[in-house]
Amino acid sequence: ATGLNTAAVAKGKLYFGSATDNPELTDAPYLAQLSNTDDFGQITPGNAQKWDSTEPSQNTFSYTKGDVVANLAAANGQKLRCHTLVWHSQLPNWVSSGTWTNETLIAAMKNHITNVVTHYKGKCYAWDVANEALNEDGTYRNSIFYQTIGEAYLPIAFAAAAAADPDVKLYYNDYNIESAGSKATGAQRIIKLVQQYGAKIDGVGLQAHFIVGSTPSQSAQTSNLAAFAALGVEIAYTELDIRMTLPSTDALLAKQSSDYQNTVAACMANTKCVGITIWDYTDKYSWVPSTFSGQGAALPWDANLAKKPAYAGILTAL
Ligand code: XIL
Repeated sequence: ATGLNTAAVAKGKLYFGSATDNPELTDAPYLAQLSNTDDFGQITPGNAQKWDSTEPSQNTFSYTKGDVVANLAAANGQKLRCHTLVWHSQLPNWVSSGTWTNETLIAAMKNHITNVVTHYKGKCYAWDVANEALNEDGTYRNSIFYQTIGEAYLPIAFAAAAAADPDVKLYYNDYNIESAGSKATGAQRIIKLVQQYGAKIDGVGLQAHFIVGSTPSQSAQTSNLAAFAALGVEIAYTELDIRMTLPSTDALLAKQSSDYQNTVAACMANTKCVGITIWDYTDKYSWVPSTFSGQGAALPWDANLAKKPAYAGILTAL
């Protein structure tokens, strides 16, 4: 049978992939399917490369968990999307509650980026350099970085990442930027800001944490992809999942399948859209139920690792 990655690559995409996380790698049937390159040509560490994991205290770096995922990708012959360098969430206290000046936070941020990107140099297809810098209305999120440094933290971060690894693709990544609106316009403003500063930005990551029945239409996604592509960047769907209010029903699973199909079809129709990553592949390990109370069943494989209708929906679009 032709799997998701095989089909995506045959149509000119770089990969179809999945996020994963360290604790679930002890689950042998889970690991076997994750490592099946017919379905997954790419993996993303869901938590292991975040700031609280990689630099829990200042200038003390810890790569054990991230290396497990990077080594798994290498052993399987899968691409690695590296995630993420500068984000307001999952920050260690020394960053989020530190006493900073413009100068000291720029230095700490650059030191973090330089160390982490250098450690993974040559191993990542892409880095999500900055994650979720925007509010829903397209203004900047009031993170410690924005408060202390202003919007310049973004180009400074991209420049530091490029200096540490000139070959890795550098992405801005966010959610609710998958169709036109204030937040997508904000992401386009960030891309132009980094470009105007003279720093390298290669791509935009659309997280695509969607809801069954209110997923943006295929045409809304297609025109949004064109607006990003017009800025000269590539695009990836980086964290796709489509959740529902539990319990799941046959009708919800059928709608979920067509929502997945429309999203994947939008990527397939734009040559600048390089690949699609789902935010883990099985409902057994989805982040959704613990984050969105009463919701779940967001992924193409159920909690018993059986394929749901969404799997066939995706394959139809590939
Ligand atoms: C999530 C992880 O999947 C969870 O395990 C963790 O508890 C919280 O973060 N946007 C992102 C991802 O960019 O890093 C988040 O991952 C999901 C939302």
